[in-house]
Order: sequence, then C-alpha cells, then structure tokens
Amino acid sequence: MQFYLAPMEGLTGYVYRNAYHKYFPAADRYFTPFITNKKMSSRERNDILPEHNEGMTIIPQILTNQAEDFLSLTKELKEYGYDTVNLNLGCPSGTVVAKRRGSGLLAWPNTLDAFLDNIFSSCDCRISIKTRLGTTDTDEWEDLLAIYDKYPLEELIIHPRIQKDFYKYTPRMECYRTAYETSRHSLCYNGDIFSPADYQKLRSDFPGTEKVMLGRGVLQNPWLIGMLRGAGPENIENYANAKDSVVAHNFSSASVSAASFADKELLHAFCADLCDGYARVISGDKNVLFKLKALWIYLGTSFTNPQKYLKKIKKANRLAEYEDAVDALFREQELIF
Ligand SMILES: Cc1cc2nc3c(=O)[nH]c(=O)nc-3n(C[C@H](O)[C@H](O)[C@H](O)COP(=O)(O)O)c2cc1C
Repeated sequence: MQFYLAPMEGLTGYVYRNAYHKYFPAADRYFTPFITNKKMSSRERNDILPEHNEGMTIIPQILTNQAEDFLSLTKELKEYGYDTVNLNLGCPSGTVVAKRRGSGLLAWPNTLDAFLDNIFSSCDCRISIKTRLGTTDTDEWEDLLAIYDKYPLEELIIHPRIQKDFYKYTPRMECYRTAYETSRHSLCYNGDIFSPADYQKLRSDFPGTEKVMLGRGVLQNPWLIGMLRGAGPENIENYANAKDSVVAHNFSSASVSAASFADKELLHAFCADLCDGYARVISGDKNVLFKLKALWIYLGTSFTNPQKYLKKIKKANRLAEYEDAVDALFREQELIF
C-alpha cells in the first residue's frame, strides 16, 4: 500500500511538508498545492524547488484548462527535475469552477477531452489526474471515466464527491466502485479517511485498492499514515529520526518509542519546528500566524477540551501569544488517540 499526502492550498506547502516528513511516518508521495500561473510565481517556485523538498518524492500539481500553459509549466518543472505532474480536476472553489478549471472542467467533457488530447500528445512528462465525479450530479461519471481511459495516465486519483458537495456529505462510494471495476488505470482513493477503521472499511470493500491519498486526516492526526501502515520497519526508522529531533529540541525523549504512536512531546516539537519554519520564510507575525491558525482548525480536534486554547490561538496577534496558548494546550490537555 502506498500513502500520499494530499495537496492542500495554504496548508501542505513545503514548510509543512518538511516538518511533517521530519517527525512523522513518511508519505510515499507528496502532492504540492496547485500551481496555476503560466509562469510560476516566486511562491509557487519556492514550493517546488528541489532544495526545499529534500528526501521527499514530490509531485507538482497544475491547475489549468489551457494546454499551452500546461506545457509551459511542465517544461519549467522539468528544468527542476520533475518528470511527473498531476492535473487538478477536483478543485470545487466557485472562482476556479467559473473559469472552467478544476472540477469546473468536468462539466465540459468535449473541452476536457480536447485538452487532454493536446497535453498527452505534446508533453514528455508523466501525467496523473486528481478528479471529482462531476459538477452538479454524477450522470457524467461513466463518460468521464471513458475519456480518462483514452489517455496513458500515470494514475487516477479519485475524490468521490461532485463539485457541489464541496466537502459535505459522505463520499459517493458507488461511483468509486464504478471506477474500481471498469477503469484501466491504476487508481488512488482519496476522501474521508480519518482513522484505521475508515481505512479498514475501504480495504474490505475495495481489496484491490493499492494507493490512498490522505489530507485532513493527516492534518488532524499526523501519525495517521503510521497507524494505517502498522508498525512496519520503515516506521521504526522514522521514529528513530523523530526521537533525535525531539532531543534536539531539548524535550525528554524517554517516552518516544518505536511502538508508541501519539506522543505529545513529539507533536509539540513538530509544532515548534513548523512555527520556526514559517517565521523563517514569511515576514510579520500576522502572516506567520495566518498559516499556523489554518492548521489548528484540524490539529485542534486531536486534543481533549481544546476550545478555550483554540480561541486564544485564533485571537493571537503576536507569535508570543500564540506560543503561550499552544504551550498551555500541550501542558494541560491530552491527545485523544
Ligand atoms: C483547505 C483545502 C485546500 C485544498 N487544496 C487543494 C489543492 O490545492 N489541490 C487539490 O487537488 N486538492 C485540494 N484540496 C482537496 C484535498 O486534496 C483532498 O482531496 C480533500 O481534502 C479530501 O481528502 P481528505 O478527506 O483526506 O481530506 C484542498 C482541500 C482543503 C480542505
């Protein structure tokens, strides 16, 4: 089984990925949040620079419906050593959809087909697709699968929701089944895997699934990939590295063992590292805090009685206030898994 970290705009950029990769069970592939400019902005370039992504397998993600832009971006990415890219056909945001990009392109199958024909005939990169099921309903899903079947995709990552669902309701597993039973592509499942029980259900309903992409579940519980993998040897090695990091941060490492998953001190060290990482590359407390607060929406759900601490984190205007609130949360509350 392969586990991928989902691309999440504003959350899983290179600062997060580096801190995550240092402390927690590694993902097999890390997908970058989407790149959308024809020529990468400095923020987009920073996110994919090889020196910002050492030791990780990175798949840059592109959001466009213009073949010319796609090809110019893949050319630029190739110069940085990337020979595999991912096409975003899932973004549900209104502004993106209005431009017929992301999941918006799914409502225009002929345009999508022509776009894919163009990029697959001209691009020498491997291309994977991350897709939703459609925009307003699932009527087009089988036709979309037939279009995908025409092209030599590296893999097809399916988030089984339609655009209108955003992140509501439960994934439409009957549509994932259609793909599972009919698609010629190597599939990766993505959506609402938050616990080993969710994962076991997926494995028992779809035993042939060999790849899973995780987003919010990992943000909430960074041990999730390790928990899903079980305590395999790769895990143990990762915990040895994590233990060194904790020592480097002057935390006691006594309670960190290869077999124990959730460890407050390790998570605290990760949070401190993340804060340092953002502070190094973003100027101004407010901008750094903006990034950190976005993560706490997810991470906060992993503590007992987090409300009062999360309120303080949300209200913090200075890093010192933020750190006080985070320190108090770690001191006074426990992890729930
Ligand atoms: C805040 C946020 C930002 C996201 N940004 C992206 C993105 O840049 N590219 C993309 O393909 N999906 C993006 N997604 C979707 C996730 O990659 C993933 O498909 C979704 O969260 C479902 O997986 P999960 O249930 O494991 O979280 C984003 C989701 C959220 C909530």
